[in-house]
Amino acid sequence: MKATALLQSQHRKVEALLKKLESGRSEAGPLLEDLADNLAAHMAIEQELFYPRVKEVDADLVNESYEEHSVAELALKRLLATDPEDDSFSARVTTLKELIEHHVEEEEQELFPSVEEQIDEDELAQLGKIMKARFDEVCEGGFEAAVPKGWARTSADASKKALSRRKSKPAAA
Ligand SMILES: [Fe+2]
Ligand SMILES: [Fe+2]
Repeated sequence: MKATALLQSQHRKVEALLKKLESGRSEAGPLLEDLADNLAAHMAIEQELFYPRVKEVDADLVNESYEEHSVAELALKRLLATDPEDDSFSARVTTLKELIEHHVEEEEQELFPSVEEQIDEDELAQLGKIMKARFDEVCEGGFEAAVPKGWARTSADASKKALSRRKSKPAAA
């Protein structure tokens, strides 16, 4: 599957989980766990694999995306720390949902079309394969393992730092 199509299908899954959570009809615990694992894995493959490859297509949008991931991750952490019986729970679900909707719209309306124009289909399919394998791995490991503890640093910060370290290392002889 093309990288962009894979990411879009994951967007639909996350949106469906958020909708279900917002409706309050199913038990919140398992939904939250599913949402956290899926979002952490989705953000990881974008931050580690997709964004670095497509940065040349739209550097500003990709930089903004790392920041939006950071904010969404913090909103998700606040939600995970909230008792579903607490009256701020549904406000936090809605806030996270709105943050994600805005971000997904930018990706699907602005970034992905440019990516599909500028990167050929074979390469996108190859990238999609690598991303899917990494997604399954991160999802399996779960949210806790994928995301830094505390509030000061996000997985997006960690991904960016790892990339700049890799770039500044002299090429092996
Ligand atoms: Fe994203
Ligand atoms: Fe995305």
